Order: sequence, then structure tokens, then C-alpha cells
Amino acid sequence: MSEQTTRRSVSVVGLGPMGQSMVKAFLAAGVEVTVWNRSTDKVDAMVELGAERAATVADALAANDVTVLSLTHYAAMYDVLGPAVDHLDGKVIANLSSDSPEKARKGGEWVRAHGAEFLSGGVMSAGDNITHPASYIFYSGPREVFDAHAELLRPLSPQEYLGADDGLAQIYYQALLTIFHPWLLAFDQATAMIEKSGHDIDRFLPFAVRSSAAYPYFMAEFSAANKAGGWATVASLKMMDAGAQHIIDASEEVGVDATFSHTAQTFWRKAVAASEEKGEAVSTYALMRGDKS
Ligand SMILES: NC(=O)c1ccc[n+]([C@@H]2O[C@H](COP(=O)([O-])OP(=O)(O)OC[C@H]3O[C@@H](n4cnc5c(N)ncnc54)[C@H](OP(=O)(O)O)[C@@H]3O)[C@@H](O)[C@H]2O)c1
Repeated sequence: MSEQTTRRSVSVVGLGPMGQSMVKAFLAAGVEVTVWNRSTDKVDAMVELGAERAATVADALAANDVTVLSLTHYAAMYDVLGPAVDHLDGKVIANLSSDSPEKARKGGEWVRAHGAEFLSGGVMSAGDNITHPASYIFYSGPREVFDAHAELLRPLSPQEYLGADDGLAQIYYQALLTIFHPWLLAFDQATAMIEKSGHDIDRFLPFAVRSSAAYPYFMAEFSAANKAGGWATVASLKMMDAGAQHIIDASEEVGVDATFSHTAQTFWRKAVAASEEKGEAVSTYALMRGDKS
């Protein structure tokens, strides 16, 4: 194969922790990278690693067929690409920033209206460690656009193409983040409770890991239950309400904020009240869906 056919190159716009990880992954895979960022100190750091500096966004777009965006949200895409819309024609924008599905769809429409192809992505990584074995990226957008550029984007993480709807990557990404955020805060509460009770987080950690081995079982059980309207008996809802109270007490006895557990308890109590009103068990799942009885 000639050098001409093996040369791979890409532009990366947005050099927060995630954009920087992406630049490093591309460079490590031998992909030439041109970078632009609003704050230039981050550009300097990437240039030191071997990336090319683009003086303007227009230059970054012009440098390569494909530009990866790694920005805080979709609003930043308009701020960044807005002044360079005349340079979008014929290009490919892979926006791997997080936002709502609807904002991703609107973003896709906007990019295409300026003559570029568009892919949306959700980076399911272990923090900004995109080379972690658990990390992968959801993609959505036109299949042919994904197929044409999958090889170039592969150094970023394993890929999961979901479908043509531009919002799809964000639906899956945000659903998984919906689980992750409360887990993270609950872990803070649990470890604060351990420490403020005079114990060692390191001793607790293996038990937390061991308990998480049951999560796949619960996920399978609750997926089946939720497809059938959700898990609930009045007795089980009352048991969860009592359980939430025990967690609140264990936290508050040692001065740990139990806001989260109070919120959980609110759900169990709402479900108990709805069940009593309806005369049959109403699940928290049905309440969250907003199902009308
Ligand atoms: N970091 C993670 O662990 C992680 C994991 C999974 C997914 N993600 C997602 O990946 C995306 C990037 O993550 P990140 O941690 O790198 O985010 P970040 O720290 O918020 O930085 C993203 C970049 O957005 C730029 N930016 C924000 N608003 C802008 C605007 N109005 N105009 C121009 N540039 C703007 C910042 O420029 P400046 O440098 O000039 O401020 C920065 O380069 C986010 O959507 C995030 O949710 C992140």
C-alpha cells in the first residue's frame, strides 16, 4: 500500500479532558490530527504531543474531511462552527458531545443545511479514559456516513452504531448516565456513612464490588418486570419505604446528607399512596412513565 493510501487524518475541535484523550488516542494510532480550541493553552499542550495547530475553526475544517467535535454541549457547536459555516460544505462533522436527543437532531439538521454530513456520538467511557476496556462509543446518523468513517474513528473506542435517528446515540447515552449519576452520588453517601461511622473505605470497597455482582441479575429481572408494567406489590413497596428510612437513619445518625434516600423514599410512598387509591399495586416504574390509571 502506498503512503498516500495509508495516511489518515482528522480534525478535533474542543480540547477539554475528553477532546485531549481523543487527540492522544488518534496520535497513538498514527492518525494525523489538527486541533482547535477556544482556549489556546490547551492547543499548545496538544501541539507538543504532535498535533497540528489550526489558527481558526475554518482552518481546522479545511485541514481534513472529518472533524470531531468534543464540546460541553450542542450550544457550543453553534458558537464554534457558526463563524465558519461557509467552510462546512462537503465536510463530515462527528459531534461526540453530550446533550439531549432533540438537540442532537436539531444539530444534525443545522449541519446538513450547511452542506456537511453529520454523525452524533455518545462516549460511554470510564471518565475520560477512552482506552479503558469498558469504554465504547454510541453512534447514530446515516449508516453510510458511519460506515465510511468508522475505520478513521476506531482509535477513539470500540463502536456501537445504533441507527439513523440523530438522537439515538444520545437516548442510549443519557439513559446510561441516568443510572450512573445517582450511583455516583449514592456511592458518596455510602462511603461517607462508612467513614463518619469510624470505619475504613478500603475495607468496605470489596463488599461494594461484591454486591455489584448482583446488579446484572437485578437488571434482567427489572427489565422483564418493567416490560410488564413494573415491579410492585403493596407489601414490597411498604418494605422499600421502611428500608429507605433505615438508610436515612444510618446516614443522619452520623451527620451524612441523606437527601438522596429521602427522594427514594418519596417514590416508594407515592407508589404506596397510588396503590391504595387504585386498589391494586402501582409500580414506581409506572409512576415515572407517567402512566394514567
Ligand atoms: N470528561 C469525561 O469524563 C466525559 C466522559 C464521557 C462523555 N463526556 C462528554 O464529552 C464532552 C466533552 O467532555 P469534556 O469533559 O472535555 O468537557 P468540557 O470540560 O466541558 O470541555 C469541552 C470543550 O468545550 C469547549 N467549550 C464549551 N463551551 C464552549 C463555547 N461556548 N464555545 C467554544 N468552546 C466551548 C471548551 O473550551 P475551553 O477549553 O475554551 O473552555 C472545551 O474545549 C461533553 O459533552 C461531556 O459530557 C465527557
